Amino acid sequence: MDKLAQPVVTLDGPAGSGKSTTAKEVARRLGFRHLDSGGLYRAITLALLEDGVPPAQWVDLTDEDMNGLPVLVSSQEAEFVIQVAGRVVQDELRSPSVTAHVAFLASLPAARKRLLHLQHAAGEKGGLVADGRDMGSVVFPDADVKVYLVADLHERARRRLEETGIIPNNSDVERESEVIAERDRQDSERELSPLREPSDAHVIDTTSLNFNEQVEEIVALVEALYVD
Ligand code: DC
Repeated sequence: MDKLAQPVVTLDGPAGSGKSTTAKEVARRLGFRHLDSGGLYRAITLALLEDGVPPAQWVDLTDEDMNGLPVLVSSQEAEFVIQVAGRVVQDELRSPSVTAHVAFLASLPAARKRLLHLQHAAGEKGGLVADGRDMGSVVFPDADVKVYLVADLHERARRRLEETGIIPNNSDVERESEVIAERDRQDSERELSPLREPSDAHVIDTTSLNFNEQVEEIVALVEALYVD
């Protein structure tokens, strides 16, 4: 039962499906740590933008270049703290310029390779809820519980806008839906680690679930591991 003492739980799904907020709360209730892998891709993107490396040149960056970027991830009790150039970053990771460039960065082999090491190190001891696009399919293929979250496109757009404090009208939702659909397309069509539903994942459609319901459904899947 050693393995089940510290399970790894993965939550994958498209943009705006509520992965990160859900993963964070599931981790809190279980006393596990939460790994927001999208935040790691965003941190590399931020470091490159701050270094003034033009995005057109990112495709030429080597493993060495990626390893040399000033991005640090340290494990705290409940979270992983991300630093870029010596300062802790959080809100900056969600800035419009980082959001505009991160899907391209995530398509580059050198970036994915750099982050694979960081993610494996984070998962080494288990007791982890990791969210992203390829957590269950590539990074933690042996995870104890794999969840794939889906939700209607317009509902995802509405939630994204509400998160930023906007009370969206129909045309806001339409515009945001187009942005999200484009990111879904880039994430699903890229060659490396595309967004895919792992064949052994529990698929949860959150369109008509409230936050508490979706958290409870996942916590119950993890707790079921402990029942004979
Ligand atoms: O979840 P997010 O919006 O913070 O993700 C940012 C980008 O990073 C998104 O375009 C997909 C990419 N990503 C990825 O390719 N693999 C992951 N495991 C997590 C995120």
